[in-house]
Amino acid sequence: MGTEGRQPALSAPGSESQESFSSSRLGTRGFWDDAYKRELRSFQECGDYGEIWFGEESMNRLIKWMKKQKIPQDSSILDIGTGNGVFLLELVKSGYNNLTGIDYCPAAIILAERILEKEGFTQSIRLQVEDFLNPSSDLSGFDICLDKGTFDAVSLDPDNAMEKREQFVMSLSHALKTEGFFLITSCNWTKDELIHQFREGFEFLEELPSPKFSFGGRTGSSVTVLVFKKNSQMLATKQ
Ligand SMILES: C[S@@+](CC[C@H](N)C(=O)[O-])C[C@H]1O[C@@H](n2cnc3c(N)ncnc32)[C@H](O)[C@@H]1O
Repeated sequence: MGTEGRQPALSAPGSESQESFSSSRLGTRGFWDDAYKRELRSFQECGDYGEIWFGEESMNRLIKWMKKQKIPQDSSILDIGTGNGVFLLELVKSGYNNLTGIDYCPAAIILAERILEKEGFTQSIRLQVEDFLNPSSDLSGFDICLDKGTFDAVSLDPDNAMEKREQFVMSLSHALKTEGFFLITSCNWTKDELIHQFREGFEFLEELPSPKFSFGGRTGSSVTVLVFKKNSQMLATKQ
């Protein structure tokens, strides 16, 4: 997420020792509330849309995949932790017309509303203040769920991150319809770690190409982009 918040996962891929993952203020609602209040002020003062996490190409990459798969334009799409809503803007410009964005920060949702209003797309997109870890019951049945940096943020929560990650998977399972697609962009988890995190109820389909880095003769990816499909296996309901 950005460069400032980028923290490598600390454990071996796929292992249970992921609990040593370091926590950070980026995992708290207070951090995001402050960030989006600042971005909202900046939008009001100089029209700046704010941070585009993972850059423009991260949105193009996902939209390209959706086009290649011939995802129907009226598919219901949920952007989890939409922030400034710029990804929704790109989706609506690409022809998708059944879009919902949620974020637990009211300032983020106001910013997204203002940006979409400025761009003339207010009518076509639903925006809701919603905590994905405690979602309303009607947040369900989506054909596609998108996450660009939100699972990363949840994973950095200093307070019970492991439980919150499990809750994220449960909420995702509720939000997405069977056979629906989940596209995740992460800079804090490797491919194997993400497959492990979403192993219950989700089938890994493919990894999308992402920017590579080279350092000390080794090449790796700074960003992981994966596509999962929700399978029909039921998740145990948490009490
Ligand atoms: C790294 S930012 C990414 C924002 C946006 N997806 C993008 O790509 O620009 C993470 C976002 O997740 C939101 N977020 C974190 N935890 C959340 C939760 N439990 N429910 C809803 N939104 C959450 C934050 O408010 C923030 O907007």
